Amino acid sequence: MTELTGAAAVVGLIGRPVAHSLSPRMHNRAFAHLGMDWVYVPFEVADDAVSAALAGVKALSIRGVNVTVPHKTAVIPFLDELTPEAAAMGAVNTIVNDSGRLVGHNTDGSGFVRSLREVAGFDPHGARVLVLGAGGAARAVAIALARAGAERVAVANRTESKAGRLAEAVARHGASSAGLSLAREPLAAELRAADAVVQTTSVGMAGDPSLPLDPDLLAPRHLVADIVYTPLKTPLLRAAEARGCRTLPGWGMLLYQGVEAFECWTGTPAPANVMREALLEALRGKEAEA
Ligand code: ATR
Repeated sequence: MTELTGAAAVVGLIGRPVAHSLSPRMHNRAFAHLGMDWVYVPFEVADDAVSAALAGVKALSIRGVNVTVPHKTAVIPFLDELTPEAAAMGAVNTIVNDSGRLVGHNTDGSGFVRSLREVAGFDPHGARVLVLGAGGAARAVAIALARAGAERVAVANRTESKAGRLAEAVARHGASSAGLSLAREPLAAELRAADAVVQTTSVGMAGDPSLPLDPDLLAPRHLVADIVYTPLKTPLLRAAEARGCRTLPGWGMLLYQGVEAFECWTGTPAPANVMREALLEALRGKEAEA
């Protein structure tokens, strides 16, 4: 880490828990690489302390924070402004302290879209995408895809009613949409015309061998993205590769939500390659331990 001076700028993370977060590694490596007098610190914040934590951000002139589970929605009433993306997603993962005004951003969805472009070389404009899952991560991804000009963003979820509600929200952002169950037939029909599948459920995480859909439904023209990043290669990504699909691993979204947060706080282009190395080193380390 660069030696800090009295003029050092502080950014960080609020959530609970935060000890597992890889964001400090990504951001502090980037600050060191650029010789910046900045530091990124994790702050564990209890559910009843969100308001006090944000008052502290202002009082201590902290330049900004990332927000993680379970506070992404709880912070909203205490902010002075939301970007259109954060308002559309109803969730904030990045706060910028703009001289005492707290502005809530959401870089999860835009970071995912940027990872599609930068890591997978896939342009979502005009694309037809099937999103698996309808939770918070799916909402960020699906709305960001619609805002990036995707022609269709269908949503399939175990609880079909939640898929329907997210599909309605997606349609308000200009993409055609539909809410589906995870049953084979509707998925098969949707995939016949799809260019990409984005898996946002917890299926396949941390040793879970299950797949969210039958890989027979995948064809080589599909890009298959999984936002799960532990393991680095999920069962779905392995199955998709075996079917001849291009794949985008979950570290892509994690990296680019961080790249975009870095750029929001510093106004400086983030060293994405340096951040990627820090992130992959940490993820490979975790995998070796497991
Ligand atoms: P996140 O913020 O990570 O998106 P979330 O909001 O809790 O987390 O959403 C979890 C998603 O994973 C939901 O779409 C959930 O499906 P339900 O809405 O039916 O609960 C999905 N999910 C979790 N476990 C699953 C499983 N075993 N099979 C299929 N979907 C699952």
